[in-house]
Amino acid sequence: MNFLTIFDLDKDGIYSLIDRASELKERHKSGIPYHPLRCKTLGLIFEKASTRTRVSFETAMYQLGGNAIFISQRDSQIGRGEPIKDTARVMSRYVDAVLIRTFGHEVIEEFAEFSTVPVINGLTDEHHPCQVMADLLTVKERKGAIEGLKIAWIGDGNNMANSWMESASRLGFELRLACPDGYKPTDEMLKRVGADTKGSTIHLVSSVAEAVSGADVLNTDVWASMGQEDEGVERSESFKGYQINDALLEKAAAGAMVLHCLPAHRGEEITEEVMEGPNSAIFEQAENRLHIQKAILERLLAGDDI
Ligand code: CP
Ligand code: NVA
Repeated sequence: MNFLTIFDLDKDGIYSLIDRASELKERHKSGIPYHPLRCKTLGLIFEKASTRTRVSFETAMYQLGGNAIFISQRDSQIGRGEPIKDTARVMSRYVDAVLIRTFGHEVIEEFAEFSTVPVINGLTDEHHPCQVMADLLTVKERKGAIEGLKIAWIGDGNNMANSWMESASRLGFELRLACPDGYKPTDEMLKRVGADTKGSTIHLVSSVAEAVSGADVLNTDVWASMGQEDEGVERSESFKGYQINDALLEKAAAGAMVLHCLPAHRGEEITEEVMEGPNSAIFEQAENRLHIQKAILERLLAGDDI
């Protein structure tokens, strides 16, 4: 009923959404209209900035024949302290689903507890499941399959890293994470996904070289996420050596693909050359937000369990 973390899906659920997104993408590219969400409305609540998530969700609703209403913290009563549980109960009486981007994951959990309509996570400090679903679609498109791949995460043990770990736990691909000391995923999250336990394919490794060696996919994100801007200088120091550049790419498997959820800081976590080079799937990845989210919206709003 909700999509708050990748763990809300099982393996079949992930693959069926990816397959459905591919069908919807093809249909859209062929110019065939498809309006299953006529008269349905998605409410979007943003407490942080966004380009991709807002535009891709609004467009997804319009393409499926529905409507979208955007509200930000600044111009709603949320910014003046109206309790989440009240907002959830009121919004549920107007719209058919709610997408939220906020800070603590507990905020979206509380919203979902009081909401009577499906709630979708558009990013919290702990998870970014819609982005990682788009990433998995992009990997499947370029590599043909996800199973059997070696995927590297280089950089912060943040919301994106967490959603990638949950995906590896569900799908069983190898995920090696290289994160500086002080910026690794939390013990709670590592335990949740069973990292480095017997039979696990999720490994926290001690060097960038070890993570990247022979990897089919290299993945990174900003060093300071939204809400951490004040730590920017300190983080730039700690993340030295964690940049995806041509020298690092050479250590990966031939034809390795590079992912970054965007927005990117060229010259910090990734170079201009890699971003614009042939290994980069970054803009396909951004486009795929639209297609995978159409599959998610269709599933949730058609009344089926996700
Ligand atoms: N990747 C992503 O979620 O981008 P926005 O912050 O622009 O939504
Ligand atoms: N980790 C980043 C992702 C942005 C889409 C952040 O939370 O700001």
